[in-house]
Amino acid sequence: MNINLLFRKYMVFALAAIFIITASLILPDKTKIDPNTRVYKLLETLGYEVKDNFPNTSIFGVSAKRGKSIVEEGFSTRPGGGSTNIQSKHFVCTSCHNMQKEDPDLRFNDPQARLEFTSQNGLPFLQATALYGSVNREKFYNDDYYKKYGDLVLPARNDIRGAIQLCAVECAQGRKLKKWELESILAYLWTIDLKMADLDLNEGELTFINKAVKSKMQKDSAISLIQSRYQKSSSAHFGTAQESKDAVVNLTGDIDNGKLIYENSCLHCHKNRRYSFFALDDDKITFKHLNKKANTYDKHSIYQVIRYGVYSKSGKKSYMPQYPKEKMSDQQLADLHSYIEFRASE
Ligand code: HEC
Ligand code: HEC
Repeated sequence: MNINLLFRKYMVFALAAIFIITASLILPDKTKIDPNTRVYKLLETLGYEVKDNFPNTSIFGVSAKRGKSIVEEGFSTRPGGGSTNIQSKHFVCTSCHNMQKEDPDLRFNDPQARLEFTSQNGLPFLQATALYGSVNREKFYNDDYYKKYGDLVLPARNDIRGAIQLCAVECAQGRKLKKWELESILAYLWTIDLKMADLDLNEGELTFINKAVKSKMQKDSAISLIQSRYQKSSSAHFGTAQESKDAVVNLTGDIDNGKLIYENSCLHCHKNRRYSFFALDDDKITFKHLNKKANTYDKHSIYQVIRYGVYSKSGKKSYMPQYPKEKMSDQQLADLHSYIEFRASE
């Protein structure tokens, strides 16, 4: 072999190597996980059978945009022209649900972590669970919601469509959603599904998952790892007013924390009678009233309304949902009580 030929062979190899290296740098790696990778997609790639709750977009008029509009404003444009009737006279979905992530660590249902996180992000602090990530959940209206709604929750337990429809009628006290409206809401909820960034995985864990995607091994461990970072259902346990009153006697309230609760929760619905005929504001007289009623069985006692809500009556359908313990702890009730006491005595 003459030296020239050898050199040419060498050049071909070298060029090929350079080509492969540059290509791998420039071309996107389709299997690579980035912060916006959708959790359900990755689970599917790993072989997990994702619950089929995708919207039926073949129905005329179904769109995520219309769904968003119904959720936020209570109506949308109608597929045939014009706009729909209002879904509920009393509420919109966002009266009670955030559409953004509201828990800093999705593994835990921790009301204090949520209060801090929502207030840092300018979100209200509410009785119902955020609909962000709801399509990634597999069970709805859990635990004690059965006590409240009885067999009505059965079609909603394992089926997000049932949950949306139940909520439209029972929670929002409005009309039933038409099929295209329901599918549109579902289409919208699929735009606020969990993304990998929400799970806060570290480099090592991401590398492990990446390897599992590319090889045939460790797929189940990767699926478990991903699923261990969020809850597949939102738990809910109701307390009683008396239990909370008894617990608060032994707790020290934090006035600043109580202020956050009053402003980000109570005022969200009661300021200027937004969703309620009962107005709450920042006046001393309001705090004096709430303070006087707090330890009574009156319907204006914070313990009564927070633990039992206010039921709707015929002729007055608007009502207040109660706060399960996962949405307001006894410590937070103590904080709210201290804030009310402080403002009443100022
Ligand atoms: C008056 C308050 C209120 C309104 C208005 C409301 N909801 Fe709800 N919703 C609740 C409560 C309370 C639950 C009980 C379970 C939970 O969220 O923790 C719930 C549950 C749900 C669930 C199941 C969540 C889960 O993980 O269990 C979905 C889905 C839902 N609502 C969708 C909607 C939609 C869509 C609308 C608007 C059409 C709406 N809701 C309006 C209070 C409300
Ligand atoms: C999701 C909206 C919402 C939130 C949050 C909320 N409320 Fe209500 N609340 C209502 C509605 C609706 C009623 C029904 C009464 C009405 O409209 O007349 C009500 C009723 C009440 C009543 C009884 C009024 C009456 O005369 O019957 C009190 C007291 C009350 N709320 C206090 C509070 C306090 C304190 C907080 C904060 C911890 C709070 N609410 C948070 C919506 C809400």
